[in-house]
Amino acid sequence: MKLCMIGTGYVGLVSGVCFSDIGNVVYCVDKDKNKIEALNNGKVPIYEPGLEEILKRNYKKKRLIFTTNLKEAVTKSDIIFICVGTPTKKNSNSADLKHVYTVAKELKKIIKKYKIVITKSTVPVTTGDKIENILSKLKKKKLVDIVSNPEFLREGEAIRDFIYPDRVIIGTESNKANKILKSLYLPIIKKMSRYFRTSRRGAEMIKYASNAFLATKISFINELANLSEKTNVDIKDISFGMGLDQRIGDRFLRAGPAYGGSCFPKDTRALLDTGKKFKTDLSIIKTVVNSNNKRKILLTKKIDKILNNNFANKIITFLGVTFKPNTDDMREASSIPMIKYLNKKKCKIRYYDPSGKKKEFFNYKNVKYYNNISSACFKTDLIILHTEWNEFKLLNFKKLVKKDSFLIYDLRNIYSPSKMKKNKLRYFGVGR
Ligand code: UGA
Repeated sequence: MKLCMIGTGYVGLVSGVCFSDIGNVVYCVDKDKNKIEALNNGKVPIYEPGLEEILKRNYKKKRLIFTTNLKEAVTKSDIIFICVGTPTKKNSNSADLKHVYTVAKELKKIIKKYKIVITKSTVPVTTGDKIENILSKLKKKKLVDIVSNPEFLREGEAIRDFIYPDRVIIGTESNKANKILKSLYLPIIKKMSRYFRTSRRGAEMIKYASNAFLATKISFINELANLSEKTNVDIKDISFGMGLDQRIGDRFLRAGPAYGGSCFPKDTRALLDTGKKFKTDLSIIKTVVNSNNKRKILLTKKIDKILNNNFANKIITFLGVTFKPNTDDMREASSIPMIKYLNKKKCKIRYYDPSGKKKEFFNYKNVKYYNNISSACFKTDLIILHTEWNEFKLLNFKKLVKKDSFLIYDLRNIYSPSKMKKNKLRYFGVGR
C-alpha cells in the first residue's frame, strides 16, 4: 500500500520506517526542510536503537521517500497518517491541537480521490469529529474516512513495540476503512497481536486511558515505596509479590523517580482537561498528577538527608540524566529539577549520559558533562544513579571513585542493599 506520514517526529518516523519494512511505500512529509534533507542523507534526527539501519535499508529499496511536498505525497497515497505533535498548551493542561487542524485544512484542499485519514498523534476524545467537520464536504462525497489508530510505542523500544505490539486499535465506523486497515496490519497481527476495532471516540479514549493507567501504576508503587522506606520493607519485594497475581502483573510497578517523558505527564494532564470539558471528575488521575509532582521534590529533598545538609564543596555525579534509558529525550526528566536544586546549593555537579551532553544544563556554571563513567566518578562525594542504562548495572564503585568515603543514591534500585553493605559502601535506594 502507499502511505503518507505527516510529521516526521517520533511517532511518524518510527511508524513510517516500520511500515516500509513490511513492504509498503511510505512518504514521510515534514515542513522542516533541514530535517528532510538530513533524512535523505541517511541521518536520523532522533535516538532510537535500530531505527537507522531499517531506515537505510528501505530508503535504498525506494520504499521510503522523505519530502516536504505534502500535496504530492497525499495525492500518491491511499492512507494518510496525521503524526504531528500535540504538546500541552502554555499555562493550561489541554493538548494543543493547532497542528492537527492545520493538517486537516490542508488535506481538505488536496484530497480528490478516496483516502483514509488517520490520527496517530495522541488526540483527546472527539478530535476525530472535529477533523470530520473540517473535511465534511469530502465526507459527504465519500472521499474520506477519518479513523483513530493510536500508537503504543515506548521510546527506546519502539521498533520492537511496532513489530510485536500487544494490540492494534482501530477506531472507525466505516467497514470499508476497517477492511483496508486490517490488511495493512495483517503482517503484524499474524505475529500474535490482537486487532481490535472500536468506535473512533473509543480508540481516542483507549490511548489516554492506557497512559493514565500506567502512570497510576507507577504512582501507586512510588507512594508505597515511601511507606516501605519508613517500615523497613523492600519495595522490590512488594512489586514482585504483587505482580505474581496475574490480575495485577509486575510491569510498570518499578519504584523510582517521578515518571517523565513526553507522554505520561502531558497525557494525564490532557485527560484531566477533557474531564473538565465534559464535567466529569477524574479524581484518581488528579491525584496521580499531584503525587508525581510531589515526588520530584520528595526525592530531591532526600539528598539533603543523605548529605546531612552539608552541601559545601560537594561533588555530585549523575549517572544518566534522560527520563529513561535508550533515549536521548530529556522531556520532564526528574534530573532537571534535581540538578537545578543542587546547582543552587552550589554543589559541583558532574554528569555522564550515554546519549551525550544536554542543552538543559548549558546555563549552569557548576554543571559539567563528562564523556565517560570513570572520570565522572573520580573522587566524587555522591553518585546519583538516575537512569538505568545497561552500562551502569555492574559498576565497581570503589575502583571508579578511588576515595575512602563516598555515597551512592540509586534512584532505580539497580543494586542490592545487602551486597552494598557487605562491600562497606554507603548506599541509599528508593523504598528500601
Ligand atoms: C509511554 C507508553 O509506555 C507507551 O505505550 C506510549 O505509546 C507512549 O508513552 C506514548 O504515549 O507515546 P514512554 O513515554 O516512551 O512510553 O516511556 P515508558 O517506558 O512508558 O516510561 C515512562 C516513564 O515511566 C519513565 O520516566 C520511566 O522511567 C517511568 N517508569 C516506567 C517507572 O518509573 N516505573 C516503571 O515501572 C515503568
